[in-house]
Amino acid sequence: MKKTLNFKQEITAVFGKPVAENPTQVMVEAAFRHHGLAWRYLTLEVDPSRLADAVKGARALGFAGFNCTIPHKVAVIPFLDEVAESARLMGAVNCVVRRGKKLVGENTDGKGFLTSLREIIDPRGKSILLFGAGGAARAIGVELALAGAGKVTIANRGKDRGRELAALLAERTRIMVEYAPWEGRFKVPADADVVINATSIGLFPDGNAELPLDMQTLLPRMVVADVIPNPPRTRLVRAASEKGCRVIDGLGMLVNQGVIGVKYWTGVDPDPSVMRAALEKVFGS
Ligand SMILES: NC(=O)c1ccc[n+]([C@@H]2O[C@H](COP(=O)([O-])OP(=O)(O)OC[C@H]3O[C@@H](n4cnc5c(N)ncnc54)[C@H](OP(=O)(O)O)[C@@H]3O)[C@@H](O)[C@H]2O)c1
Repeated sequence: MKKTLNFKQEITAVFGKPVAENPTQVMVEAAFRHHGLAWRYLTLEVDPSRLADAVKGARALGFAGFNCTIPHKVAVIPFLDEVAESARLMGAVNCVVRRGKKLVGENTDGKGFLTSLREIIDPRGKSILLFGAGGAARAIGVELALAGAGKVTIANRGKDRGRELAALLAERTRIMVEYAPWEGRFKVPADADVVINATSIGLFPDGNAELPLDMQTLLPRMVVADVIPNPPRTRLVRAASEKGCRVIDGLGMLVNQGVIGVKYWTGVDPDPSVMRAALEKVFGS
């Protein structure tokens, strides 16, 4: 039988600015290839003034969906037809999915983190120390609350932003939450089960930057996680490994949020190891 030729590809993308250093294409297209999908993932620089046009264009061209990164995660919301629960609570969308004729906003950042965390520990009822109050911390905080974490303590350099995130979680979820001022080297409370760096400390090109944390207060029974994907072995990850803690690096979160996005768009559960290997190749780790 003659093989049917098909030159039409399904399109997905990331919209951001700047976007040239975003490695998502490498991992998502590795999954498409591995699973024999005739799909593409384009890295597209979109100026904030053209975001509405870009979303219209994605509709017109029948994109299966697209990721949004800085500075579009909040600004994209008015141009969508629906926003899923956790993305609504966070007030930010990082993954848009075409469902029927609708464009639906999801947030996979926190969900990706939770997948990594659950491989090691179930957050239900646990005491969590979360550094940061920006987009990543907000996404993680909301998903931890939805997953039934016992208590979340938020430490952030900027007091207002830290208190704001604590108030958002306290008002909109049922979690026990407190804000802890962060001056000098933070001492981890002995009852913490999970310690998470969701600040940008340690991100390339400041790969050797150190989270102001008293490493002596990390205990071997604690799980320590870092959101920084590049470089993945941050000082925190290295110090916590040396203390005997179980650690989660930022590549896990990046891969797992990508896995969820690919599943939303294609319906295929992609192999995370293929995606991680593609990223490790570009990061040279
Ligand atoms: N692995 C993944 O899949 C993934 C996904 C999303 C994000 N991320 C990473 O998460 C990090 C944060 O992203 P974001 O979107 O949350 O950024 P953001 O909204 O700009 O927030 C940055 C956070 O880092 C804190 N911070 C920055 N520099 C600091 C310093 N020198 N000392 C203390 N605190 C500092 C900020 O505190 P202030 O409020 O005081 O400024 C704020 O809490 C980025 O490095 C990003 O690469 C990773």
